[in-house]
Amino acid sequence: MKVVYFSLTGQTRKFVNKLEMDSLELTPTDPFIPVNEPYIIITPTYDREMTEILNDFIETEHNQSFLKGVAGGGNLNFAQLFVFTAKDLAEEYNVPLIHCFEFQGNEEDVLKIKKVVDDLGYN
Ligand SMILES: Cc1cc2nc3c(=O)[nH]c(=O)nc-3n(C[C@H](O)[C@H](O)[C@H](O)COP(=O)(O)O)c2cc1C
Repeated sequence: MKVVYFSLTGQTRKFVNKLEMDSLELTPTDPFIPVNEPYIIITPTYDREMTEILNDFIETEHNQSFLKGVAGGGNLNFAQLFVFTAKDLAEEYNVPLIHCFEFQGNEEDVLKIKKVVDDLGYN
């Protein structure tokens, strides 16, 4: 399973590095990268204009058919808006919201994601 993510201030990148999984970092300059294998998305939470590159990526070629779930990083101080980007993406593309965490996550968050990925059975 591949991890596709983006990161504006580096928190999500740090979290993904801790997973030690095959990963792809999206950048605003070119999110139109086709993939031909199952992946999950791990996204920070920002206004839609900032996160639209994820929609661009998912809607590139056959990418949507390989999307297996979405995880979100955020800041609990945002209360009801905590991790809304990941929640919205999961709903929009009808895939599970697999985990939510704060900032660069902790050991438990890493284990949780790894377990969900194992359970999905694509490794
Ligand atoms: C301008 C701005 C808006 C944010 N809005 C939200 C929000 O609505 N909900 C939330 O959970 N986190 C919000 N965050 C927190 C970030 O999603 C969080 O810090 C995340 O770990 C950043 O990831 P990154 O360093 O990979 O970009 C916001 C952060 C900034 C700077």
